[in-house]
Amino acid sequence: MARSPRKHPVADAEVAACLRPLDSLPCPLDPRSLFAATSPIELEVGCGKGLFLEKAAVSRPDTNWLGIEISTPYARLCAARLSKRHATNALVIPGDARRLVEEMLVDGCLAAVHVYFPDPWWKARHRKRRVLAADFLAHVARTLGPAGILHVWTDVEEYFRETLAIVAGGGFFGEPQTVVERPAEHDLDYRTHFERRTRLAGEPVWRTFFVRRDDPVTAPPPRRSAAIPPRGDAPSRSGRAVPRPASDSRQ
Ligand SMILES: C[S@@+](CC[C@H](N)C(=O)[O-])C[C@H]1O[C@@H](n2cnc3c(N)ncnc32)[C@H](O)[C@@H]1O
Repeated sequence: MARSPRKHPVADAEVAACLRPLDSLPCPLDPRSLFAATSPIELEVGCGKGLFLEKAAVSRPDTNWLGIEISTPYARLCAARLSKRHATNALVIPGDARRLVEEMLVDGCLAAVHVYFPDPWWKARHRKRRVLAADFLAHVARTLGPAGILHVWTDVEEYFRETLAIVAGGGFFGEPQTVVERPAEHDLDYRTHFERRTRLAGEPVWRTFFVRRDDPVTAPPPRRSAAIPPRGDAPSRSGRAVPRPASDSRQ
């Protein structure tokens, strides 16, 4: 009987070349050890299917790019995109960004952190799963080097305003900076898949970036040593170990 064609045209070995499972990494982790070139490193939290990481790796080869994605299937899709582009300056970590940032990354190792369209976790009892929480943002500040940048874009106004308030209260970053929306010049001229989807639906996107202060109001916390229980591939917004939960049909 004839074999059915492979669903994933990129070979597993090629995907694996761009993947670094979280549990395979040392702790503490200096991400400079993951790349051949000694370029600045930028991290994307929740890289999804990888449109941003792919474009960034190709358009800015002078930077090393790290993505972390809690859904292993999405992390693999993202790694496949990078592999097809023969990107040697980009890697994807399947795993929980909170564990990576709060427990593993060494101080001052990143030039920028990008958080695009983080899961909003609508239900009140799930709010604690939001990645843009006070602890996480303090550790983002800890892992950023001098003048490091935190980019935040979302389609959820309430989450955006809450993030502005948390950042202002933390004292680690300067004032939120304005990011102007520009017209898309072609069908994939968006920062991420979720930006594309949101704008094509005619819905607003809230965008900003913050620069890490040299004189923070309080010093960022030390790297967290107590392990948050490992959560592997889940939960996503519904608490299921799937890329996209039933409670949010946006993806
Ligand atoms: C709404 S999607 C946005 C994906 C992409 N950033 C974009 O804008 O198209 C949010 C992504 O974050 C991932 N995610 C949620 N919580 C995470 C966590 N704690 N660590 C890493 N990734 C996470 C989800 O699996 C999902 O792929």
